[in-house]
Amino acid sequence: MVFIQETGNEPGFPSALDMAACQQMQEGRDDCWQSLVQGLMQALSTEQNRLQQAIAHSQHLEAQNKQLEEKLAESEARNHALMEASTAQAQQFSETLRQLRQNQSKIVQSEKMASLGQLVAGVAHEINNPVNFIYGNLAHATEYTQQLMHLLQLYQQSYPAPDPAIAAEAATIEIDFLMEDLPKLLASMRVGAERIQKIVMSLRNFSRMDEAEMKAVDIHEGIESTLMILQNRLKAKPDHPEIQVIKEYGNLPPVECYAGQLNQVLMNILVNAIDALEEKSSGELGMENTQAGVPNSPSYAPWIRIRTQCLEGDRIQIVIADNGPGIPKTIQRQIFDPFFTTKPVGKGTGMGMSISYQIIAEKHRGSLECDSTPGQGTEFIIQIPVRQKGHFEAA
Ligand SMILES: Nc1ncnc2c1ncn2[C@@H]1O[C@H](COP(=O)(O)OP(=O)(O)O)[C@@H](O)[C@H]1O
Ligand SMILES: [Mg+2]
Repeated sequence: MVFIQETGNEPGFPSALDMAACQQMQEGRDDCWQSLVQGLMQALSTEQNRLQQAIAHSQHLEAQNKQLEEKLAESEARNHALMEASTAQAQQFSETLRQLRQNQSKIVQSEKMASLGQLVAGVAHEINNPVNFIYGNLAHATEYTQQLMHLLQLYQQSYPAPDPAIAAEAATIEIDFLMEDLPKLLASMRVGAERIQKIVMSLRNFSRMDEAEMKAVDIHEGIESTLMILQNRLKAKPDHPEIQVIKEYGNLPPVECYAGQLNQVLMNILVNAIDALEEKSSGELGMENTQAGVPNSPSYAPWIRIRTQCLEGDRIQIVIADNGPGIPKTIQRQIFDPFFTTKPVGKGTGMGMSISYQIIAEKHRGSLECDSTPGQGTEFIIQIPVRQKGHFEAA
């Protein structure tokens, strides 16, 4: 600008210097062109080099980037795998823990049952002898009493007007009533002694301490013994009515089994049914409990039905059903889990069904299923093969 202003030339007109240069060029200074071209070429090639370097650099960066991305993906995958492995491990741990708890409870429970069995068998044995004295002697006592009474009657016939002292004593002891009552009294003592004998037999039968090994037994005998032991719980109580037991026994052959264990299963199922029926009837009573705390006689009649039958393929089936409250669908699958209980602490252990399942499925190659309709009742279905020995010996 300063240059233009100094010369006073219009813009666009070459200055004196430019002119000189042009002149020089025009004078055929080819080398000037050449050097210009060369300079340009050089600049171009430098630029090209720089560009190439930049491209190379960016390629390098790209490659590095890619490598980094790959590494990232790799480490992410490794992380994922690690996480999966640790989850799997945690699951395995909790499964192992569950199995440990289950085994422990099984051991505790079977130990408990074994000592309970021993206790029951011991008590039964101890009661057995004295009851037999009573029962055995009752027959003689009855006979002697009859003979004495007969003799007394003869005396009465022969001496219709006895000595006043004898007549007074006869009146004091109410001889007529006594003679009428004594045979009844002896009969009821006999019934009582028979009951005790039956209970003792059931206890021994139930505990079956003498039969630790597998043996062919009458299943109905096991059911009867178990019911006999549970009789007290079936009776009517102030807060619930009597539980009716309906027996529909089929024709069963002797079944090879661990009788004591099978009885334990029957006991577990029956006790659960009684618990459920009691729960339902106290619920019903609660609702119908009207004035002055006097419960109405409830329309609800609780029952347990035991049905046995032979199945095809040498199997037998025992179905124990009740008309209790049933089991909600959501927990039906859980009832065979160890420790699962819906009963209050101290009442339920949650072990009954889990042990029963193990006894039926594992020890007897059978099946134990539960079918329940909430509000209507529950059914337990036991199926076991008639013969076991061959299988277990072969195994
Ligand atoms: N007949 C039944 N009616 C209703 N519920 C039942 C019946 N039998 C079993 N159950 C349910 O199954 C659960 C588990 O039974 P169990 O293993 O014997 O443990 P527990 O009797 O100690 O609770 C019970 O708490 C109860 O909820
Ligand atoms: Mg139970």
